[in-house]
Amino acid sequence: MHVGILGGGQLGRMLALAAYPLGMHVRVFDPAPDACAGQVAEHIEAKFTNAEAIVRFAEGLDVVTFEWENVPSVAAGYLAGRLPFFPSVLALETAQDRLDEKLLFESAGLETAPFRTVETREELRAAVAAIRLPALLKTRRDGYDGKGQYVLRAPADEDKAWETLGPMPGGSAPGAGLLLEGFVAFERELSIVGVRGRRGDVRFYPLVENHHRDGILRLTLAPAPDVAPERQREAEAMLLEVMEELEYVGVLAIELFDYQGRLLANEIAPRVHNSGHWSMDGAEAGQFENHMRAIAGLPLGSTEPLGVSAMVNLIGTLPRSEDVLAIEGAHLHLYGKEPRPGRKLGHVNVVARDRDELAARLARVQALTGGEERLGSFGARET
Ligand SMILES: Nc1ncnc2c1ncn2[C@@H]1O[C@H](COP(=O)(O)OP(=O)(O)O)[C@@H](O)[C@H]1O
Ligand SMILES: [Mg+2]
Repeated sequence: MHVGILGGGQLGRMLALAAYPLGMHVRVFDPAPDACAGQVAEHIEAKFTNAEAIVRFAEGLDVVTFEWENVPSVAAGYLAGRLPFFPSVLALETAQDRLDEKLLFESAGLETAPFRTVETREELRAAVAAIRLPALLKTRRDGYDGKGQYVLRAPADEDKAWETLGPMPGGSAPGAGLLLEGFVAFERELSIVGVRGRRGDVRFYPLVENHHRDGILRLTLAPAPDVAPERQREAEAMLLEVMEELEYVGVLAIELFDYQGRLLANEIAPRVHNSGHWSMDGAEAGQFENHMRAIAGLPLGSTEPLGVSAMVNLIGTLPRSEDVLAIEGAHLHLYGKEPRPGRKLGHVNVVARDRDELAARLARVQALTGGEERLGSFGARET
């Protein structure tokens, strides 16, 4: 089977690495000459707007998927008209616009932070009056890793937020395409990753707990500590609703806020997700393998965790491999990217039999990576 992946970053690379044992051949499409998936798969290097290159990419493929959310609709639409294309173009387009995402959550019956669209300075004032501070102003499109967001704490922040995000790149009218969101004083951030096959079969990974710093995910604990079985079922039901609304095939993630006993939906990722990386070593079948199985119409693999796991992102700089690999239960995943501040260069999955063992192993990994995320009761609790 020949699989095409739109986008050739680390997600595409790990999808390709999971595809080969299943006997698949992988071709990625990415404009960057040094796209890291290109080290392990055939690479078509061209802009997403290059029609000739898209045609060349499609040649001989059996199925197309994507690992990057901002694939232009034209390219996706062209490919979806000719080849099995999973997840759906609807899922891709919905995830590209925070407003569409919020409307999807509403129609699927999921609770979200309060929000208002903002197109003009006047509308920002009205939205702040309606939602109250603190609040976050976000661009509807092109935000990632906390970029395209501004936190408003006091009325005086309105002007600064407007100046920072108001005039949109590309010259459109100032203020076009913003969303003001009420700030959720969540207890913690969770996410759920699941997979839906071509026949509508589904599997869910356990809820995981995510720790961000400067808008970037640093640490995932899997399964999340202190999750009652009802919460897991609630989160699975939320994911299933969204999957069905989107006629979804493949791996899907929802980021959630754990807030006063409720799960609020923050955003979806219509793809393999950073908070699912632990599953490569910490579950029967990892998210990358399961995504490839799903889009190929193969039976899905078990999402059962193997013990308890933590995933530590390697951002900006890398520890010495020999130091990481000397730690029992630590699995190193490097993406083959040039170090640069703020860049995701790899991750370490730590797997253990119980939480005490995990806490000890994780502490050794974090001593190498400078991670300072608090684990709350995680390390101290009895297992
Ligand atoms: N309404 C909100 N209330 C509180 N924190 C928020 C809110 N929206 C986003 N955040 C914080 O900012 C992070 C990044 O925001 P998110 O909407 O997930 O955008 P992206 O991941 O695309 O950058 C979230 O993981 C969360 O920590
Ligand atoms: Mg996010």
